[in-house]
Amino acid sequence: MRVLVAGGSGLLGREITRAALAAGHDVTVLSRSRPGRDPLDPRAAWLGGDVTDAESLAGKLEGHDAVVDAVQMPNSPFEDPKKGVTFERFDLHGTLNLLRAAEAQGVGVFVGLSGVGAAADAPYHWQRLKWEEEQAIQANRSEWVVFRPSWVYGARDVSLNRFLGFARFLPFVPVIGDGRTRINPLFVQDLGEHVAAALTLPAARARVFEIGGPAVLTMDEVVRVALAVAGRRRLLLHQPKWLMKTLAQVVQHLPGRPLTPDSVDFVTMDGVADTKGLEETFGLRLTPLAEGLATYLGRDR
Ligand SMILES: NC(=O)c1ccc[n+]([C@@H]2O[C@H](COP(=O)([O-])OP(=O)(O)OC[C@H]3O[C@@H](n4cnc5c(N)ncnc54)[C@H](OP(=O)(O)O)[C@@H]3O)[C@@H](O)[C@H]2O)c1
Repeated sequence: MRVLVAGGSGLLGREITRAALAAGHDVTVLSRSRPGRDPLDPRAAWLGGDVTDAESLAGKLEGHDAVVDAVQMPNSPFEDPKKGVTFERFDLHGTLNLLRAAEAQGVGVFVGLSGVGAAADAPYHWQRLKWEEEQAIQANRSEWVVFRPSWVYGARDVSLNRFLGFARFLPFVPVIGDGRTRINPLFVQDLGEHVAAALTLPAARARVFEIGGPAVLTMDEVVRVALAVAGRRRLLLHQPKWLMKTLAQVVQHLPGRPLTPDSVDFVTMDGVADTKGLEETFGLRLTPLAEGLATYLGRDR
């Protein structure tokens, strides 16, 4: 199969690319800039394209049997409306452009990446936009699959690794909120394996799958497991959510928007995937947190 992975240079896109190549597919990555410092798998081709600019997609999907949409707004979850960096523009309108290009260029299968919590009446606008994105995929394609990942971790993630970065030079790890946020963290390789399998699995067609790790943990438990795997002992220092949101009200006006009130909500929202349908359909193993972390943490010990 010829597979185009839009956003294939990102955290999830790279693993999807790796798993699709391992399954014997030809893979083309589409992104705005060719990865330089962190090159792509040499077996993958690369094409420049911007999903927010429909014209830039002209002809790019030609000859492909499947498209995976693994694009994410730069610096997510920090929106910057003045610069046009919004969930609406990248998640919804970017997907609509990709859907139109897939239709025009005769691509068969469309795989979308949504997120746990996507719903028409969800509390946050990024979850409602993911829902709209899902609706657009279902309305426009006959051969589609949507995954709703929980919180994804891996060697290249910028969330859990940020916590652990603090542990290198501080005697504590800062945790926004009370640390009781509930998540079932998903190892990025498991996401890649499932997306690659979905490309050719008839039973996965026209279905939405929540996908997360095998255990539901609190954020404190996740950080403690990660510290243990990395071989460090640190205190967890909680910063009240109200305090961080107040701080964010001020610093969101600084250049680069280091923190926004929405981003505080984003990192403290529950994210538990119900994996029953996924496990029944795919039958693939989901990696426990400590095992996934051990594949890349603690190498510098
Ligand atoms: N990470 C998670 O924990 C998580 C959880 C649930 C759902 N998801 C979903 O999974 C998807 C991928 O997330 P991720 O964490 O892998 O993102 P990521 O690491 O930030 O990667 C984003 C990718 O999109 C590309 N991109 C950005 N803007 C683009 C544009 N306008 N046109 C074409 N390509 C563009 C980037 O390359 P360039 O910048 O070079 O274009 C990069 O390849 C998103 O839909 C996200 O909502 C992620």
